[in-house]
Amino acid sequence: MPGPESQADLSPESIDSLASAALAAFAGAGSSAELKEARLAHSGDRSPLALANRAIGTLPGPQRKEAGQLLGSARARVATALTAREVEINTEELVSRLVAERIDVTLPVELTPEGAQHPITALIEKLSDIFTAMGWQIAEGPEVEAEWLNFDALNIGADHPARTTSDTLFVEPLENHLVLRTHTSPVQARSMLTRDLPIYIVCPGKVYRADEFDATHVPVFHQIEGLCIDKGISLAHLKGTLDHLAKTMFGEGIETRMRPHYFPFTEPSAEVDLKCFVCHGESVGNPDAPCRTCKSQGWIEWGGCGVVNPRVLTACGIDPEIYSGFAFGMGIERTLMFRNNAADMRDMVEGDVRFSRSLKGMAR
Ligand code: DAH
Repeated sequence: MPGPESQADLSPESIDSLASAALAAFAGAGSSAELKEARLAHSGDRSPLALANRAIGTLPGPQRKEAGQLLGSARARVATALTAREVEINTEELVSRLVAERIDVTLPVELTPEGAQHPITALIEKLSDIFTAMGWQIAEGPEVEAEWLNFDALNIGADHPARTTSDTLFVEPLENHLVLRTHTSPVQARSMLTRDLPIYIVCPGKVYRADEFDATHVPVFHQIEGLCIDKGISLAHLKGTLDHLAKTMFGEGIETRMRPHYFPFTEPSAEVDLKCFVCHGESVGNPDAPCRTCKSQGWIEWGGCGVVNPRVLTACGIDPEIYSGFAFGMGIERTLMFRNNAADMRDMVEGDVRFSRSLKGMAR
């Protein structure tokens, strides 16, 4: 039985019309997808031209030669036209994609200004790192605090002037006896009441006072509280800890001193001073070279400290015959002022990113 090839019409007209159909189909294709269809239909393995090519072998000798030549040149024309149309369509498609995806690089752009970590946050992280590196833990407490923990547990008597409304912000209704904590020291009491002994904690956090808002006072500021309760703890451990803290914060050359003071929750108590890093004490008794930083005192008050008062240990359920400890507390804004030359505390609460940026990376 004759195959499909034997039925192929291999006349010159027929070959010509197959080629013309192919050329027309390529010319009419408007996209690479359409051209692909046209290619499969007109020059693929199963296209009439391919079938005709396979049928050539069935023709008698002389006809075979002529038809072979005609078909060869027809297929060559078709292949050339296909390649040319492919190049055209690819170029058209590329151009229209470039037009569609055009970006006007001259358009104004909205730049998001770079932020910066707040220097107080950075300093809190630095301080926390110093203590966690020594194995201390970070403790936290609420800012709305029980009056008892803020004052009574710390041996601050009912008639202490700090408990008046001129110093302390009480939370209504007053009969609930809640205050905005005036210091981070209530976290000492909380830690002693809830933690296992020994205790080595620092608590950085916000505190509130009914204070003016000026260059050196803000009603909300930050302190860091430290508390160590263990067996055989003495004032020497306190001094060593504060010296290490001062050196890590201010550099090896810093000098500290402990000046006797009074705090109800420590006995003995002291204030920690830093040697003035501006005049190095040279302004003392030298009216020709006064120092604004230390007010010609030679020293700057940094914080309070002392040996935990046995009455506080007892109030918090710790036997003062077995355990003793030390505590300290400093203002973080004050620390930033000395350490990074931030002169005005108001800058620290106003939230202007330019202030944060001006100290970027420096508080750490
Ligand atoms: N709580 C004190 C204040 O706000 C600072 C302070 C002093 C904390 C002595 C202490 C300390 O832990 O032992 O002024």
